[in-house]
Amino acid sequence: MQSKNILALAAAAAVALVLISERQRQTANEDVAALQTKAAALVKDYGGGLLGVLKGAMESSGPVGAVTFCNKEAPELATEASQRSGWHIARTSLKVRNPQSAPDDYERQVMTEFVNRIAAGEPAASLKRAEIVEHNGERVFRHIQAIPTGELCLNCHGSDIKANVRAKIQELYPADQATGFKPGELRGVFTLSKTL
Ligand code: HEC
Repeated sequence: MQSKNILALAAAAAVALVLISERQRQTANEDVAALQTKAAALVKDYGGGLLGVLKGAMESSGPVGAVTFCNKEAPELATEASQRSGWHIARTSLKVRNPQSAPDDYERQVMTEFVNRIAAGEPAASLKRAEIVEHNGERVFRHIQAIPTGELCLNCHGSDIKANVRAKIQELYPADQATGFKPGELRGVFTLSKTL
């Protein structure tokens, strides 16, 4: 074969490769978009359910009763939501109440970035990060979504917690770190993952 033909072939092959990788990139983008939509719906369901349960418990049993209720129900609701969906669904924070909700390195890094963005003026409620990452040789889709501190939350996560509420929290969570939050600050995040 003449060297001119070889060059032409090589060029054609290179173009084909570029086209294939472009196609793969598009497919990956489409996958991520579908996963993002699904993750957002799961957060809405799980987060909405949790807030409803918390408000109900505050009304019927007051904040002390609601602490006991949260202690039992919050982990259960996360387990149920995970089993129903086949995703791993949980909450975490840079300052956790339940030590079992402590963040991994990825979650810690994303939350640190969120805290910096809030300090720079972005509203906490708008912050999320979703992407495919490699973990132990597997591709994992991760979705992290900010949970801002609202007024209601201050009853159990603020700086001025009633003595009887504080005592109940200390009894159930001797290593509690989740107090001293102000409205608008990052209380924690919803963290979802799915191995692909
Ligand atoms: C009645 C008290 C109470 C109120 C009000 C309350 N929480 Fe909590 N919160 C708890 C308890 C108890 C836990 C630990 C639950 C567990 O064991 O998983 C917790 C855990 C969390 C966690 C999981 C991470 C961690 O620290 O363990 C997040 C995030 C959180 N709360 C956010 C909020 C937000 C946001 C609000 C307001 C909308 C709120 N909480 C209101 C009692 C409360």
